[in-house]
Amino acid sequence: MLFLPAAHLTAAGLAANNRPMQRIFSGIQPSGIPTLGNYLGAIRNWVALQDDHDCIWCVVDLHAITQFQEPALLATATREMAATLIACGIDPVRHVLFLQSRVRAHTQLAWIFNCVARLGWLNRMTQFKDKAGENTENVSAGLYVYPNLMAADIHAYHATRVPVGDDQKQHLELANDIAQKFNHDFGVEFFPRIEPLILGPAARVMSLRDGSRKMSKSDASDQSRINLNDDADTISLKIRRAKTDPQPLPSEAEGLVGRPEARNLVGIYAALSDTDHAGVLRQFGGQGFGAFKQALADLVVAKLAPIAAETTRLLADPASLDAILHRGTERAAAIADPIVAEAERLVGFLSP
Ligand code: TRP
Repeated sequence: MLFLPAAHLTAAGLAANNRPMQRIFSGIQPSGIPTLGNYLGAIRNWVALQDDHDCIWCVVDLHAITQFQEPALLATATREMAATLIACGIDPVRHVLFLQSRVRAHTQLAWIFNCVARLGWLNRMTQFKDKAGENTENVSAGLYVYPNLMAADIHAYHATRVPVGDDQKQHLELANDIAQKFNHDFGVEFFPRIEPLILGPAARVMSLRDGSRKMSKSDASDQSRINLNDDADTISLKIRRAKTDPQPLPSEAEGLVGRPEARNLVGIYAALSDTDHAGVLRQFGGQGFGAFKQALADLVVAKLAPIAAETTRLLADPASLDAILHRGTERAAAIADPIVAEAERLVGFLSP
């Protein structure tokens, strides 16, 4: 039997079938204004999951400082990320949106997990190896235990479903290993198994300059990405200049094989118009890129303009935004604190 504190059940609410809704937790780093890639790859899926889950959305500022952040920039980027999430449809009233560093339960449980996870497990994490590169002696200890904090994020809420990109799959396996070892070591069934909801490569948006690389905030060229706050002229220019090949668009999806740039633009059009590659090619197959790029630019502008406007409105009033996040913090702590207090009791800590 799973141990579920009463608060967990009442906070979770009921799904249409009258069973408690599954709880989702996911986190996103405060990297400023997200790109169209973040939107189509993650945020838009999060918004859809809100219909039939009890959701906890977290801006993971503790994870951000595993690599040095300029303090003033971190604060700005954190507000920008929170505002953009709300503008995209993350609902801070029906669900919970908060900043990781403001809820102490995360670091409290992370310490316990630092003592449960084995060095050998962490040594296998490919993301650490990618981020540390040659520099393994000089990265922060925080970067090394990053996955333990991520496990704590999820387990502090007894969340059972976690939507992430496939680059995070290994971290979720580790989170399950940690939960299993904790349960085993302390002879309980306290932390539930988590089920990754892997957001597939279909939603992956590639660079506008190189169809083989992911659209990324860290790309040196701003022309490679569309930021969610780009204005209409900037978006049109970036799409007009996007790399393509000299062939017209194919009439069938198979014709996109080996044409990564064409595939990417068709994929963006498909995602924003809720169809698939074939649906887009029925309309534009056989045509050159000129007309298609114009239609794509119009579509991207139409979809992003309301998000940009709402983000700007929210950022113009930081006090109100901070108040929304403060309420999120209180509600997150109300769920996580009793769960982490119980974990501490199981470990053998005396109650205060
Ligand atoms: N590591 C995740 C990423 O970079 C962000 C993250 C932190 C997260 N804590 C989490 C995702 C908990 C899911 C659940 O994408």
